[in-house]
Amino acid sequence: MKTIVCKTEEETHSLGRRLFRALPVPSFVALYGELGAGKTALVRGMGAEAGTKEVRSPTFTIVHEYETEPRLVHFDAYRLADAEELYAIGFEDYLTQQAVLVLEWAERVPEALPKERLELRLFGSGDEPRTVEIVPFGTAYESVVDAL
Ligand SMILES: Nc1ncnc2c1ncn2[C@@H]1O[C@H](COP(=O)(O)OP(=O)(O)OP(=O)(O)O)[C@@H](O)[C@H]1O
Ligand SMILES: [Mg+2]
Repeated sequence: MKTIVCKTEEETHSLGRRLFRALPVPSFVALYGELGAGKTALVRGMGAEAGTKEVRSPTFTIVHEYETEPRLVHFDAYRLADAEELYAIGFEDYLTQQAVLVLEWAERVPEALPKERLELRLFGSGDEPRTVEIVPFGTAYESVVDAL
């Protein structure tokens, strides 16, 4: 595990950029953290690195896809009652695609997470600095953690 402190939203955004550069394709990133922890801020950084500025939280639609290179697919499980609702939008098909997948509110759908994944747990809210714990599950993600 690695712990990174992001003092400002810009630092969280910049971590998202570095993360996107370091990730293999395909890859899966599970984000944990309460309301306002900075999950979407981090994904905005990932999107900026991919080449899109339009990242907004897919809270109501569950998924947003960006036709970047590599493709970025952004999920939000906040409003889901259970993993079945995630499977209903074709989640398992996304897992087979050549894309970078990132999921907010991973704590809501623990059973749906792929075995090999990178977990980021964000702590802190409001104007506090954010502490980000980064844990690799699977050898492919160990080098990602080292690169951050
Ligand atoms: N160090 C920081 N990193 C990230 N965001 C910060 C930081 N400091 C303050 N903020 C603010 O915290 C808020 C984070 O909002 P964001 O939408 O990214 O959170 P979230 O975890 O996606 O919340 P939700 O669960 O509602 O999806 C923003 O208003 C941002 O400006
Ligand atoms: Mg969000």
